[in-house]
Amino acid sequence: MIRPIAISLSPNTGIDDVLAALKIIFSPLSWTHGSAVEKVENWFNRRFKAKISVSFNSGRSALLAILSAAGIGPGDEVIVQAFTCVAVPDPVVWSGAKPIYADIDDSLNIDPYLLEQYITSKTKAIVVQHTFGIPANIVEIKKIAQKHKLILIEDCAHSLGATIENREVGTFADAAFFSFGRDKVISSIFGGMAVINKHSKIDSIKLKHYQMKLPNPSIFWIFQQLLHPLVFFIVLPIYNIYIGKILLYLFQRLHLLSFPVYSCEKKAKKPSVFPAKYPNALARLLLIQLPKLEKFNNHRKEIAYYYFSSLKEVKGLILPQKTSGAIYLRFNIFINKASDLLTYAKREGILLGNWYHHIIDPYGVSMEAIGFREGKYSKAKLAARESVNLPTYQAMSINQADKVIELIKQYGNKSVGK
Ligand SMILES: Cc1ncc(COP(=O)(O)O)c(C=O)c1O
Repeated sequence: MIRPIAISLSPNTGIDDVLAALKIIFSPLSWTHGSAVEKVENWFNRRFKAKISVSFNSGRSALLAILSAAGIGPGDEVIVQAFTCVAVPDPVVWSGAKPIYADIDDSLNIDPYLLEQYITSKTKAIVVQHTFGIPANIVEIKKIAQKHKLILIEDCAHSLGATIENREVGTFADAAFFSFGRDKVISSIFGGMAVINKHSKIDSIKLKHYQMKLPNPSIFWIFQQLLHPLVFFIVLPIYNIYIGKILLYLFQRLHLLSFPVYSCEKKAKKPSVFPAKYPNALARLLLIQLPKLEKFNNHRKEIAYYYFSSLKEVKGLILPQKTSGAIYLRFNIFINKASDLLTYAKREGILLGNWYHHIIDPYGVSMEAIGFREGKYSKAKLAARESVNLPTYQAMSINQADKVIELIKQYGNKSVGK
């Protein structure tokens, strides 16, 4: 596939995924029935040596299910980090509990040394995000959770395969959840997994019952997700000549593609499609991605290390934390006037990433609805202002990474010259 450098246009899709999606579309009887879901759940259970692994149609559904199984609801507080996607605090609001936002450290994850100030007598759980695949300081965070008898949940939406001293993230807490969203580590366009660890306080039977009572998503919703790899296969090679952009716009306008965040979620409202079971059709897509996990992550690391060595002398940039267990889903740099760099890159035909340009992303989130009150959050605010994500996805070649590096250097020279 000839694809432009584009961080978010179906970055994990290969020709095998496209062919599989096509085959699945023509076997609609298997969309909700078959053995693929169980196979995916077993894969997670084996890998994480878990008590139980239970699949859902998104990471946010998985988080909502974990909160329910943990008995968290109205009157409770759950700590999440600022500098995140609305898909994280939303399930907390949907559970009836209140999200409390914590500031971050240089890893762009919860700062354990600031954490205790957010804990009250109502706090029941802490959700620890491993942002961009860089592990949080979970060891220190866990000590605080144990001291206050709080449930600890790892948000591994960006970090499947990341490790801390050779131990897999997702195995440190009571529970973890994963996302198979379109831009995540591996993708089935939508999908998620909740994993309950062996010594967890959370009731695994309750979690399984929660899943069993859920409906499957609608046939149309499954169709939208199956169409995604096919549409991008057609659109990508012609994306930089306008017809590709127009086609993509038309597919979106006709609602043949789903958006990663539904507009009602920006007001903390729950779309009817969440929570739901993980449909067999999407689990079949994931079974094609799972064997590629190590290859994808090794590639991400290779590109990240290339950025580290090539960008280290460039003035005005702050590079991400260099940690051997990180998988660098996206290589996040801090730069002054981050939005200008994104615009400049777009004009040059390169789409860089803007996770998270709002302290709770994306644009348009109602801070009132998600219970975010202005506060100190100095690190999270800086991150939201200055972050630009560089691509590390599987189809990025070193030559393309060179183009990204060249672009950043050119932009730097232009800004200095102004
Ligand atoms: C850090 C983080 N956690 C959780 C989620 C939710 O995952 P999903 O999109 O599968 O619901 C997302 C993405 O949307 C995310 O970026």
